[in-house]
Amino acid sequence: MEKRMLIHSASQLLTLAGGPQRGSQLGNLGIIENGAVLIQEGKIIQTGITSEMLAKYPDEPRFDARQRVVLPGFVDPHTHLIFIGNRAFEFEMRLEGKSYMEIMAAGGGIANTVRATRNASIEELKKEARPRMVNMLAHGTTTAEAKTGYGLEAESELRQLQAILELNQEGVLDLVPTYLGAHAIAPEYKDDPETFTQIVVNQFLPGLEHWWHINNKNQAKPFVDIFCETGAFSLAQSRLVLQTAKDLGFPLKIHADEFDNLGGASLAVELGAVSADHLVKTSQADINALGQSNTVAVALPPTPFGLGHHEYTPAKEIIKANGILAIASDLNPGPAWCENMQFVIALSCRYLNITVAQAIAAATINAAAAVGRADQIGSLEYGKQADVIILSTDDYRNLGYKFGGNQVTAVFKRGNLVVQNNGN
Ligand code: NIG
Ligand code: FE
Repeated sequence: MEKRMLIHSASQLLTLAGGPQRGSQLGNLGIIENGAVLIQEGKIIQTGITSEMLAKYPDEPRFDARQRVVLPGFVDPHTHLIFIGNRAFEFEMRLEGKSYMEIMAAGGGIANTVRATRNASIEELKKEARPRMVNMLAHGTTTAEAKTGYGLEAESELRQLQAILELNQEGVLDLVPTYLGAHAIAPEYKDDPETFTQIVVNQFLPGLEHWWHINNKNQAKPFVDIFCETGAFSLAQSRLVLQTAKDLGFPLKIHADEFDNLGGASLAVELGAVSADHLVKTSQADINALGQSNTVAVALPPTPFGLGHHEYTPAKEIIKANGILAIASDLNPGPAWCENMQFVIALSCRYLNITVAQAIAAATINAAAAVGRADQIGSLEYGKQADVIILSTDDYRNLGYKFGGNQVTAVFKRGNLVVQNNGN
């Protein structure tokens, strides 16, 4: 007998049907009032009105959503999930007035986490990441992108990638792997970024390609990402690294315009990157380029929030330019240790000045597009993976309105009920 389940009596079933939402389309939740969704073998079979679905499928096992909101699981399309330790001491330094880039220039920041992470075994890497994944899931994230980037040497970066692949196999969350060997200039090359860039291009990326071919030939290739920023990689260096990755067949991402406008977003568009992320200092010309492309603009509001900054991604401008906006946590041990997409939604409403409906679309179907999986996840539509969450409320607007707690009461991962919270 095929394993089926009918989730019924949702006050609002947010289907997010119809694919990624660009420009003014953003915020189309595809709401079915008093909705139901039929799941079979981990996939969505049908959505509809509860009374009709109960009549049509009278004998299926049922799950009563009890007049609460049902929606697709959140997709977190930008995380630095894999790291060892924490940098609470740097948080204190920032509170005392040092800036993130000052700390980085003095050999701290990413380099501190590199020191702690570089020599960790795959088991150690997985052990520290697991509780974060469990907490993400408990807050409704069912797929997350996960980056390497705290090795900055060939072997260590591949170990981090292997940890991501193995954690993905464990099945708690689906992880979408990203190789970020160009996360910062490795400490050994601090004064010679050009040489380190050449190492990334001539050793890291060909090594990655070889390793992937030997070990994971039949799987979709990981993303390759880079931190394009003053004090990290210049625009020219970013172009070289990303073009090399593209030539090797890797899909691309970029960290752009977090602190300076170097033109990374336009570079992403030019190279056909799947996403450009951060985008705080992005110029109007770069925004226009994004708006005319399929490169998803990923805003990371926990990062300026975590830094106590007052400038955020110009989301409204991106929407006006017809861009595809997604939101993500940027979970990392530096500015943004955030495992909760509900909080990202709350921040987005206030600091990106978008509506709750827009933030939900940005955290589901558009976030799925930002990891190249809009055909598999991010909406409740026929054939999609049955990653479904239930809130503790009957009105989706409470998601952005209330904040700081957990409004997810149930999580279905590939059709299996894996989380039941009390919610608040
Ligand atoms: O996306 N900006 C670069 N990388 C991370 C921060 C990583 C860290 O500080 O450890 C980011 O914000
Ligand atoms: Fe990041």
